[in-house]
Amino acid sequence: MKGRSLLLLTMTLAASSASFAQTPSGPGQMKPVAYKVVDGNKVDSDTLQGWKTWRALACERCHGAKQEGMVGPSLIDAFKTLDKNEFHRTVFGGRVDKGMPDFSSSQMMQKNWENLFAYLKGRSDGKINPGDLQAIDAK
Ligand code: HEC
Repeated sequence: MKGRSLLLLTMTLAASSASFAQTPSGPGQMKPVAYKVVDGNKVDSDTLQGWKTWRALACERCHGAKQEGMVGPSLIDAFKTLDKNEFHRTVFGGRVDKGMPDFSSSQMMQKNWENLFAYLKGRSDGKINPGDLQAIDAK
Protein backbone atom coordinates (compact mmCIF):
# COMPACT_ATOMS: atom_id res chain seq x y z
CA MET A 1 0.00 0.00 0.00
CA LYS A 2 2.74 2.45 0.91
CA GLY A 3 4.66 1.71 -2.26
CA ARG A 4 1.70 2.43 -4.46
CA SER A 5 0.70 5.69 -2.85
CA LEU A 6 4.33 6.77 -2.88
CA LEU A 7 4.52 6.06 -6.58
CA LEU A 8 1.37 8.09 -7.22
CA LEU A 9 2.72 10.92 -5.16
CA THR A 10 5.99 10.77 -7.06
CA MET A 11 4.17 10.91 -10.37
CA THR A 12 2.00 13.80 -9.25
CA LEU A 13 5.00 15.76 -8.08
CA ALA A 14 6.87 15.02 -11.28
CA ALA A 15 3.94 16.24 -13.32
CA SER A 16 3.22 19.36 -11.33
CA SER A 17 6.62 20.82 -10.62
CA ALA A 18 9.39 20.83 -13.13
CA SER A 19 11.95 22.16 -10.71
CA PHE A 20 11.64 20.07 -7.58
CA ALA A 21 15.34 20.29 -6.81
CA GLN A 22 17.38 19.46 -3.72
CA THR A 23 17.32 21.74 -0.79
CA PRO A 24 20.85 22.44 0.41
CA SER A 25 20.35 21.18 3.94
CA GLY A 26 21.45 18.21 5.96
CA PRO A 27 24.38 16.32 7.38
CA GLY A 28 27.69 18.08 7.31
CA GLN A 29 29.51 19.54 4.39
CA MET A 30 28.00 17.92 1.37
CA LYS A 31 29.12 18.65 -2.13
CA PRO A 32 26.37 19.94 -4.37
CA VAL A 33 25.09 17.32 -6.80
CA ALA A 34 27.06 17.66 -9.95
CA TYR A 35 27.62 15.29 -12.79
CA LYS A 36 29.11 15.98 -16.16
CA VAL A 37 28.01 13.97 -19.14
CA VAL A 38 28.96 13.97 -22.80
CA ASP A 39 27.09 11.98 -25.47
CA GLY A 40 25.01 10.30 -22.78
CA ASN A 41 27.66 7.74 -21.88
CA LYS A 42 30.81 9.62 -20.98
CA VAL A 43 30.94 11.07 -17.50
CA ASP A 44 33.32 12.79 -15.10
CA SER A 45 35.45 10.54 -12.93
CA ASP A 46 33.37 10.98 -9.75
CA THR A 47 30.19 10.01 -11.52
CA LEU A 48 32.03 7.08 -13.08
CA GLN A 49 32.88 5.90 -9.57
CA GLY A 50 29.20 6.24 -8.69
CA TRP A 51 28.24 3.99 -11.58
CA LYS A 52 30.94 1.48 -10.59
CA THR A 53 29.52 1.44 -7.09
CA TRP A 54 26.08 0.76 -8.52
CA ARG A 55 27.53 -2.19 -10.43
CA ALA A 56 29.76 -3.50 -7.65
CA LEU A 57 26.99 -3.53 -5.07
CA ALA A 58 24.53 -5.00 -7.56
CA CYS A 59 21.70 -2.58 -6.87
CA GLU A 60 20.30 -3.67 -10.23
CA ARG A 61 19.39 -7.02 -8.71
CA CYS A 62 16.36 -5.32 -7.20
CA HIS A 63 16.08 -1.96 -8.92
CA GLY A 64 16.70 -3.13 -12.48
CA ALA A 65 19.63 -2.64 -14.86
CA LYS A 66 18.07 0.62 -16.05
CA GLN A 67 16.92 1.63 -12.56
CA GLU A 68 13.41 1.03 -13.83
CA GLY A 69 12.34 -0.98 -10.79
CA MET A 70 11.82 -4.69 -10.13
CA VAL A 71 11.51 -5.95 -6.57
CA GLY A 72 12.58 -2.51 -5.45
CA PRO A 73 11.00 0.70 -6.74
CA SER A 74 12.06 2.58 -9.85
CA LEU A 75 14.91 4.89 -8.93
CA ILE A 76 14.21 6.93 -12.06
CA ASP A 77 10.95 7.93 -10.38
CA ALA A 78 12.35 8.07 -6.86
CA PHE A 79 15.11 10.49 -7.84
CA LYS A 80 12.62 13.06 -9.08
CA THR A 81 12.02 13.86 -5.43
CA LEU A 82 14.51 11.99 -3.27
CA ASP A 83 17.02 14.37 -1.75
CA LYS A 84 20.55 13.60 -0.69
CA ASN A 85 19.70 13.26 2.99
CA GLU A 86 16.95 10.78 2.30
CA PHE A 87 19.24 8.84 -0.03
CA HIS A 88 21.91 8.76 2.63
CA ARG A 89 19.44 7.56 5.23
CA THR A 90 18.19 4.85 2.88
CA VAL A 91 21.53 3.31 1.93
CA PHE A 92 23.11 3.73 5.39
CA GLY A 93 20.63 1.82 7.45
CA GLY A 94 18.45 0.46 4.73
CA ARG A 95 14.78 -0.31 5.14
CA VAL A 96 15.50 -3.85 6.05
CA ASP A 97 11.94 -4.72 7.00
CA LYS A 98 10.84 -3.68 3.50
CA GLY A 99 13.61 -5.48 1.63
CA MET A 100 16.11 -2.67 1.12
CA PRO A 101 19.48 -3.85 2.50
CA ASP A 102 21.75 -1.80 4.73
CA PHE A 103 24.94 -0.86 2.87
CA SER A 104 26.58 1.02 5.73
CA SER A 105 29.34 -1.57 6.15
CA SER A 106 30.41 -1.28 2.52
CA GLN A 107 33.59 0.74 2.14
CA MET A 108 32.78 1.36 -1.46
CA MET A 109 29.48 2.91 -0.41
CA GLN A 110 31.10 4.94 2.35
CA LYS A 111 33.54 6.37 -0.16
CA ASN A 112 31.23 6.82 -3.09
CA TRP A 113 27.69 7.46 -1.91
CA GLU A 114 27.68 11.03 -3.17
CA ASN A 115 29.03 9.89 -6.53
CA LEU A 116 26.35 7.24 -6.65
CA PHE A 117 23.76 9.88 -5.84
CA ALA A 118 25.05 11.99 -8.73
CA TYR A 119 24.95 9.02 -11.10
CA LEU A 120 21.37 8.15 -10.18
CA LYS A 121 20.34 11.77 -10.44
CA GLY A 122 21.78 11.89 -13.94
CA ARG A 123 19.88 8.73 -14.84
CA SER A 124 16.66 10.14 -13.45
CA ASP A 125 17.20 13.44 -15.26
CA GLY A 126 17.47 11.46 -18.48
CA LYS A 127 20.95 12.84 -19.12
CA ILE A 128 22.94 9.67 -18.51
CA ASN A 129 22.14 6.63 -20.62
CA PRO A 130 21.50 3.22 -19.10
CA GLY A 131 24.29 0.67 -19.42
CA ASP A 132 28.06 0.99 -19.58
CA LEU A 133 29.78 4.31 -19.07
CA GLN A 134 33.28 5.55 -19.69
CA ALA A 135 35.34 8.51 -18.59
CA ILE A 136 34.94 11.72 -20.56
CA ASP A 137 38.64 11.73 -21.37
CA ALA A 138 38.85 8.02 -22.28
CA LYS A 139 40.27 7.29 -25.69
C1 HEC B 1 17.57 -7.08 -2.17
C2 HEC B 1 16.93 -6.07 -2.96
C3 HEC B 1 17.53 -4.67 -3.01
C4 HEC B 1 18.84 -4.30 -3.30
C5 HEC B 1 20.02 -5.22 -3.60
C6 HEC B 1 18.87 -2.87 -3.28
N1 HEC B 1 17.63 -2.36 -2.98
FE1 HEC B 1 17.13 -0.40 -2.80
N2 HEC B 1 15.23 -0.91 -2.26
C7 HEC B 1 14.74 -2.20 -2.22
C8 HEC B 1 13.34 -2.16 -1.81
C9 HEC B 1 12.41 -3.35 -1.67
C10 HEC B 1 13.03 -0.80 -1.58
C11 HEC B 1 11.70 -0.20 -1.12
C12 HEC B 1 11.69 -0.03 0.39
C13 HEC B 1 10.40 0.60 0.85
O1 HEC B 1 9.34 0.09 0.51
O2 HEC B 1 10.48 1.62 1.52
C14 HEC B 1 14.24 -0.04 -1.88
C15 HEC B 1 14.35 1.32 -1.79
C16 HEC B 1 15.44 2.06 -2.21
C17 HEC B 1 15.51 3.49 -2.25
C18 HEC B 1 14.40 4.44 -1.82
C19 HEC B 1 13.47 4.71 -2.96
C20 HEC B 1 12.35 5.63 -2.58
O3 HEC B 1 11.40 5.72 -3.37
O4 HEC B 1 12.39 6.24 -1.51
C21 HEC B 1 16.74 3.83 -2.73
C22 HEC B 1 17.26 5.22 -2.97
C23 HEC B 1 17.43 2.61 -3.00
N3 HEC B 1 16.63 1.55 -2.66
C24 HEC B 1 18.72 2.54 -3.49
C25 HEC B 1 19.45 1.37 -3.62
C26 HEC B 1 20.84 1.33 -4.00
C27 HEC B 1 21.68 2.54 -4.34
C28 HEC B 1 21.21 0.03 -3.98
C29 HEC B 1 22.59 -0.56 -4.24
C30 HEC B 1 23.66 -0.02 -3.41
C31 HEC B 1 20.04 -0.75 -3.62
N4 HEC B 1 18.99 0.10 -3.40
C32 HEC B 1 20.00 -2.12 -3.52
C33 HEC B 1 15.43 -3.35 -2.53
C34 HEC B 1 16.79 -3.44 -2.81
